[in-house]
Amino acid sequence: MADPRRFTVTAALPYANGPVHIGHLAGCYLPADIYVRYLRQRGEEVKFICGSDEHGVAIIMKAKAEGVSPRDIVNKYHSIMSKAFEEFGISFDVYSRTTKETHHKTASDFFLKLYKQGKFIEKETEQYFDPEAQQFLADRYIQGECPNCGYPEAYGDQCENCGASLSSTDLINPKSSLSGAKPVLKKTTHWFLPLDHLSGKIKKYVESHKDWKPNVYGQCISWLDSGDGLQARSMTRDLEWGIPVPVEGGEGKVLYVWFDAPIGYISATKELLGDEWETWWKDEETSLIHFIGKDNIVFHCIIFPAMLMEHGEFILPDQVPANEFLNLEGKKISTSRNWAVWLHEYLRDFEGQQDVLRYVLCATAPETKDNDFTWKDFQTRNNSELVAIFGNLVNRVLVLMNKYYGGQVPEPADLSQEDHELLDLLERAPKKIGESLSKYRFREALTSYMNLARAGNKYLADEEPWKTIKTDEKRTATIMYVAAQVCAQLSQLGEPFMPFTTAKLREYLGLELRSWHNCAVKEIIPKGHTIQKGELLFTKIEDQQVEEQVGKLTIAKEANTPESDLPPLKDIISFDDFSKLDIRTGTILEAFRVPKTDKLLQLKVDIGIENRTIVSGIAEYYTPEEIIGKQVSVLTNLAPRKIRGVESKGMILMAENPGGELNFISPGNSMASGAIIR
Ligand code: 2FM
Ligand code: ZN
Repeated sequence: MADPRRFTVTAALPYANGPVHIGHLAGCYLPADIYVRYLRQRGEEVKFICGSDEHGVAIIMKAKAEGVSPRDIVNKYHSIMSKAFEEFGISFDVYSRTTKETHHKTASDFFLKLYKQGKFIEKETEQYFDPEAQQFLADRYIQGECPNCGYPEAYGDQCENCGASLSSTDLINPKSSLSGAKPVLKKTTHWFLPLDHLSGKIKKYVESHKDWKPNVYGQCISWLDSGDGLQARSMTRDLEWGIPVPVEGGEGKVLYVWFDAPIGYISATKELLGDEWETWWKDEETSLIHFIGKDNIVFHCIIFPAMLMEHGEFILPDQVPANEFLNLEGKKISTSRNWAVWLHEYLRDFEGQQDVLRYVLCATAPETKDNDFTWKDFQTRNNSELVAIFGNLVNRVLVLMNKYYGGQVPEPADLSQEDHELLDLLERAPKKIGESLSKYRFREALTSYMNLARAGNKYLADEEPWKTIKTDEKRTATIMYVAAQVCAQLSQLGEPFMPFTTAKLREYLGLELRSWHNCAVKEIIPKGHTIQKGELLFTKIEDQQVEEQVGKLTIAKEANTPESDLPPLKDIISFDDFSKLDIRTGTILEAFRVPKTDKLLQLKVDIGIENRTIVSGIAEYYTPEEIIGKQVSVLTNLAPRKIRGVESKGMILMAENPGGELNFISPGNSMASGAIIR
């Protein structure tokens, strides 16, 4: 959109089922905050909207795991998250929550409007029902054997072993995670939003946004081309926690969390602005921008716009900048496995060092592909960039200025070519950095910004005012004047990236924050202006601190963390039941990947009395080469099963910790194949 009059900027509403971690920050909240701070500095009208997403199965599951009510869960995590965001300088204009009255009413009214306009189809379907718990089961609440790989604990929506996306009715021997009972199919009615009639409109909408980031645009197009992308989607659920379905027949049902959550952006705007909210959602000159993580792309680029189109009164999202994922020390961040750097813990362990994390997360943001955060890199970027370049420059300028001129910026004499070049660079910087920021290229913007500090540092090292002071007063005054301009520019243009540090620096320099356009000048700090000596902006991060953080991760992982990650003990069985199992030692003779799968290996196993073909879901953990000759435990009398067209006769027993790591169960010392295990 060319020159919008105002910007409604949202950041994905995080589920209030756990604290914020660095993956959330890098994916969505930090880029959104940098962008909003930049817009504000440009003098734009902007509102930055967010809040906690407090409904849905994610919350209910967490409540169950902690043995408390969903309301207790959302109260606890909303408070942890909102406090951490604030301390980290994420400058929301409003951080609301979807359990608020205003939101319930807004979402309910939205649903009713679509309902009255006949936009839904009411459909009876059969869904799993837990006869003991007397309730319908969301797919996540059902576990059973994966029809694809045989993994016994697959969820109703997905098998975490082979990655197949499933429907709960695909599971073999399904059982309810609530009571353990076998679920039965029962009829239930839901309201579906048909999308097929909108396909032309949605396609046109998406195709008119070739300016979206390639990862966003690409995912939308393949979704639209996939065929089942625009199937009618159920907008209601049989759950007790959520916003009641406000129409006849809706008793005991709630709105689907992905129906209510994006409406949360609207409710939060109402909370912030009262009656004025409409301009920010309905005026064509408003640019609506949703910052999200890549797992939310389809909801924000297709489903939510479809809801808005059907409602009819709203503008559609103009931009949906989505980042990819941030990994941690080479592994996927996982809340349940506690493989994460939690923001509230960072703020405690690195008090006053918010900007270091902001800097590192921006410098390594997963803008175009997944990226890795390591503590070592965090330390290096702090010590060799923030301390050695930025901090060093500022410190030298402040100290020398006070030493030579009592803190007063001296009058420059004739400017050399080097002086001109550096001042020109400063003058051009707002345009250059601004262009990158406008295109959501935050890493590029930060690099250009740090290049100013680099240039300033080099300038000082080359010009050596500590030497010229002895021989050439005029030259020294000029150098110090120019160097002061670099610090002054850094204190202005760094506001979006490092608001805490740059505010401190402006205080030392005695400067107010300028508008972005007013920074496109050669002189920001005039001669005669007094500056303080200040204090060091950054401090070194020691090896020990890094070791502590890495150690914390390992401890969390090895301790297998929350007890609730361990599955409950199974029912007692008789010795007779146990003796039905025929388990023997076996030796793997051959192994190769099952074609077109990531997880499956086909094995030939010697079980003493014969060789068996067994398909096993271990390809992610072992290569075929490394397991040939390995002794394993084999359940030999499991009924044969066809997996991907191969008849598998038996099962290799594996130990699995809650972190998902698999290990063979092998005899301590080598044994002949076929030894009985009992
Ligand atoms: O993925 C998530 O964490 C969701 N809670 C995001 C919701 S974004 C929006 F629609 F509110
Ligand atoms: Zn599977």
